[in-house]
Amino acid sequence: MELKGLILSGGKGTRLRPLTHTRAKQLIPIAGKPNLFYALEDLVAAGIRDIGVILSPETGDEVRAALGDGSSWGVHLTYIVQEAPLGIAHAVKTARPFLGEHPFVLYLGDNLLSGGIQHLVAEYRATRPAAIVLLCPVEDPRAFGVVVLNGQGEVVRLLEKPQEPPSNLALVGVYLFSPAIHPIIEGLRPSGRGEYEITEAIQGLVDSGQKVVAHQVRGWWKDTGKPEDLLDANRLALSAIARRIEGELIEAQVVGEVVVEPGARIVRSTVRGPAFIGAGALIEDSFIGPYTAIGKNAQVVLSEVEYSILMDEARVHALPHRLDSSILGQGVVVDGRGSPRRNTLQLVLGDRSRVRL
Ligand code: DAU
Repeated sequence: MELKGLILSGGKGTRLRPLTHTRAKQLIPIAGKPNLFYALEDLVAAGIRDIGVILSPETGDEVRAALGDGSSWGVHLTYIVQEAPLGIAHAVKTARPFLGEHPFVLYLGDNLLSGGIQHLVAEYRATRPAAIVLLCPVEDPRAFGVVVLNGQGEVVRLLEKPQEPPSNLALVGVYLFSPAIHPIIEGLRPSGRGEYEITEAIQGLVDSGQKVVAHQVRGWWKDTGKPEDLLDANRLALSAIARRIEGELIEAQVVGEVVVEPGARIVRSTVRGPAFIGAGALIEDSFIGPYTAIGKNAQVVLSEVEYSILMDEARVHALPHRLDSSILGQGVVVDGRGSPRRNTLQLVLGDRSRVRL
């Protein structure tokens, strides 16, 4: 049977507040594109056409509005509401009527992967193991599922967010499963943090002697769980963009890999790439430094911004110093007119905040 896709776009997003008070964390833009689109595009590139999307009751409508029926990507989307965020395995269980007996790719909607998943899907189709998991060595594995391999590189043990990690191999939020995972999920009990853990379900496959294949990621991987991860993901995604100028440049200097979307205007300003300037944005008498993404219809006037994400309609005016490593939510207004100069300014502001410096 053909592989299906399952993207998780539910959950709580508590670690990204205030950015996620008003929006799904999976819709936060990375290099000008919602996080979730990267997962969808990886599935599409791997030839998967039938894709389920797990939604939460709170943010489901905006996710639906962003993805539509999937026809822009040539795929069929099925929306599945998970009434409460009871865990990744619970989300899979909720999607069971959609998944049926099909093997599937489970893709967490806040994960970004540089190498895509084509090679994994090809391997699954050729060898049909019970599961393929992706691993990435990390400095501090305590925030992730952690895997122990034996001398032959086979998975022997999986632990969810262990306080004392037995290895540095984190589980990436992209998994391929045969339908053998479902009866194991049925038998799970909630973990210490009250969730049905996919990590425990994979351990169940290992314990019952089924084949679980592990691969290390090629290139980079990012779980955008925290604000600094969003900025880092933005940096990595911007590193891959190619220069494309469709907006208007008026006495502007635009250097390197920069995208200026249609309707955007760069006036008496310098933009140094890699950077993304969204449709309809205005950059006036300003400097935009590397690794910055400016959302649609946002405005930067008499200011300097670097290594930051400004979401749609955000506005900064006459900042007293360069804005660095900052995330401004949709419609945020920061007005520095008349304020004394400062050395640094680092802000993480939820949608529609207004700040007068
Ligand atoms: O990112 C990789 C990590 O993802 C793995 O290393 C861990 O083993 C795995 O448990 C998971 O950990 P997180 O704590 O990062 O998971 P989080 O709660 O952030 O949920 C991941 C995504 O799934 C997120 O987009 C929200 C969505 N989700 C989550 C839960 C718990 C749902 O749609 N429903 C849920 O019930």
